[in-house]
Amino acid sequence: MHLILIGAPGSGKGTQARRLVETYGLVHISTGDMLREAVRSGSDLGVLVHTYISQGHLVPDTHVTSLVEERLDRGDLANGFVIDGYPRTVRQIHEFDRIMKSRQRTLNAVLRIDVLDDIVIARLSDRRIDPVTKRIYNLNLEGDHPAPDVEARIVQRDDDRPEIIKQRLSTYHAETYPVIEFYRETGQMIEVNGARAPSLVFAAIQKRLASLEQ
Ligand code: AP5
Repeated sequence: MHLILIGAPGSGKGTQARRLVETYGLVHISTGDMLREAVRSGSDLGVLVHTYISQGHLVPDTHVTSLVEERLDRGDLANGFVIDGYPRTVRQIHEFDRIMKSRQRTLNAVLRIDVLDDIVIARLSDRRIDPVTKRIYNLNLEGDHPAPDVEARIVQRDDDRPEIIKQRLSTYHAETYPVIEFYRETGQMIEVNGARAPSLVFAAIQKRLASLEQ
C-alpha cells in the first residue's frame, strides 16, 4: 500500500504515521525528518535547509524532490510506505507522479487529517520529541507522558515557537491547500476529522482504508 499523509502542521501526521507503520507494516517516509537530518549533518544542503525551516517556509521543491527520489530507491519498501509531508506544493504533485510512475508504483490513497488552526497552535506548543526513538509526545494529552528516563531527554522543535507556527500555518494554507484540492478532484482523497483522540482518528483511518480494499 502506498499512502500520502497530508494535513496542517500539528494535525497529527507523525502520530498517525506511527500507527500506520505498526498496523500495516508500512515504511514511514517523512520529508520533515529527512530535512532535519540534513540540518543535523551540517552538510551544505543542511545549512541551506535550516534557513527555510527555521523561518517556517518551504524548502525549494528541487531539494525535497531529490531526497524523496533517493529514499524511494532504497530496497526496504516491499510492504509499501506512507509518505508524510510530501507533496506539499502543486509542483511536487507532478514530481511525485513522475517518481512513482518511473518506479511502477501506484498511489492507493491520500489521507488528510483535518484540524482547525486554533487546535494545532495549542498542540504544537505542547509537543515534545524523543530524539532517540523519534516518538512524539504532547505534554497536554492525557496518558501521553514519557517515562522518567525519556522525559530527561525530550526536546522541543526549533520551529514550534509561536511566531514560526503562525508562518507555517500561513504557508500551509497558501501552498499546500491547493494540493488537497487537487487530490479531491482525482477521487483519491480520504478525509478524517483530526480533532479527536489519536486512537479515534486512527480508527476512522482504518475504517476508510478497509473500504478501499473491498
Ligand atoms: P514537517 O516535519 O513535515 O512538519 P509539519 O507539516 O509542520 O507537521 P508537524 O511535524 O509539525 O506536525 P504533525 O502533523 O506531524 O503532528 P504531530 O503528529 O507531531 O515539516 C517541517 C518543515 O520542513 C516545514 O515547515 C518545511 O520547512 C520543511 N518541509 C517538509 N516537507 C517539505 C516539502 N515537501 N516541501 C518543502 N518543505 C518541506 O502532532 C503534533 C502534536 O499534537 C504532538 O504533540 C502530538 O502528540 C499531538 N497530537 C497528535 N494527534 C493528536 C490528537 N488527535 N489529539 C491531541 N493531540 C494530538
